[in-house]
Amino acid sequence: MDHFQTRDGVMHAEDVSLETLAQEIGTPFYCYSSATIERHYNVFAAAVSGLGDGDPLVAFAVKANPNLSVLATLARLGAGADVVSGGELARALAAGVPASRIVFSGVGKQLPELRAGVEAGILQFNIESEAEILMLGQVAAALGKPVEVAIRINPAVDPRTHGKISTGGADAKFGIPFERVPAAFALAAAQSHLRPVGLAAHIGSQLTDLSPVEDMIGRLGRLATDLEAQGHFLKRIDFGGGLGVPYRSDQPAPPSPVHYAAMVARATRGWRWRLMFEPGRMIVGNAGVLVSSVILTKDGASKHFVVVDAAMNDLLRPSLYNAWHDIKALRPRADRITATVVGPICETGDTFAEDRDIEAVAAGDRIAFMTAGAYGATMASTYNSRPLVPEVMVSGDKWAIVSQRNQPEAMLALDAKAPWLK
Ligand code: LLP
Repeated sequence: MDHFQTRDGVMHAEDVSLETLAQEIGTPFYCYSSATIERHYNVFAAAVSGLGDGDPLVAFAVKANPNLSVLATLARLGAGADVVSGGELARALAAGVPASRIVFSGVGKQLPELRAGVEAGILQFNIESEAEILMLGQVAAALGKPVEVAIRINPAVDPRTHGKISTGGADAKFGIPFERVPAAFALAAAQSHLRPVGLAAHIGSQLTDLSPVEDMIGRLGRLATDLEAQGHFLKRIDFGGGLGVPYRSDQPAPPSPVHYAAMVARATRGWRWRLMFEPGRMIVGNAGVLVSSVILTKDGASKHFVVVDAAMNDLLRPSLYNAWHDIKALRPRADRITATVVGPICETGDTFAEDRDIEAVAAGDRIAFMTAGAYGATMASTYNSRPLVPEVMVSGDKWAIVSQRNQPEAMLALDAKAPWLK
């Protein structure tokens, strides 16, 4: 469910015409619908409410979309934040997420990042290695602040998703192998300023099958029970994120938050720990589109190319994961074409869709790459010295630029000629 609909022949974001936005600010740009973000958060939060100890924490995975207005929209609804860097921590705090609702994940947190989290007084660090236990122990002791930690386990579960976004396999770099978790818990308990109070896991992203998640939950529950039998006291168990979203209108939708919550309710029956969830894509994926203009069309030996002004640097997912994004014309026509939609960048990987059946478009027409709200703008780069594109947020009939297009001069100003070249 999203709020990008064709009205009077033109695609709108809520009550704002995307054609009007394109004329005002130029293309390409990302556009987010706050009503969609709000709806997805509320549906997810309502579905999991009452599970575990009855007060679950829904911590939005900031990596999916760290835009300040996106985070502030979620903070106002009571969302927490799952952060993985000092930069994301600063954004979550700036957006108004209380420290008491922030969890810090990540396999390679550095000392200044650990310090920033301890100083901010965040709820919990999810620790991923024995080495990190010692690092955080020292930081917390030096700052004289006790810190609550969860051990992220490597549950050795195959999430059955794309290899590059699968994190739960035994050979993944994430978490501490199952068998070593009791020793890691004891090591954390032995640090004067660490309080091991939880377990965490995250097996992968864009999950379309819930059974690996159910396996993961079963493993977490058994481990938590064993740890308590060994004399530890657990408060929280964090299931990570991962719920998939529908990218293709012609394929069956992945399980909904309601299905997911029903599985969690079954798998956690009788638990009294607080549950934590870190959804990212599910909250923002369908809440964003990337709007682009057709520069020209050209015929190759056998392909009809539609060359657009967005490129792989703006939306990397098709190039990196062969990901599918539906492509729609802002002013749909009745006739259709088979097109290979490409950007202007000088490599063949700069292809959004190959031999795709789309609404007919010609030079000057505008299109939208759908479901681009998660892992879109945030994975952009300036490859080919292309400026990062603006992000716009819509709410009803209001809109605002919530991230500026960076200017070529500003990009150039970051470089310097080495003294011997002047
Ligand atoms: N928690 C942890 C510890 C994670 O590593 C992730 C995502 C999430 C939560 C949120 O997962 P989600 O609910 O969004 O699936 N760039 C890739 C996705 C990478 C996901 C990385 N971790 C893509 O564009 O598909």
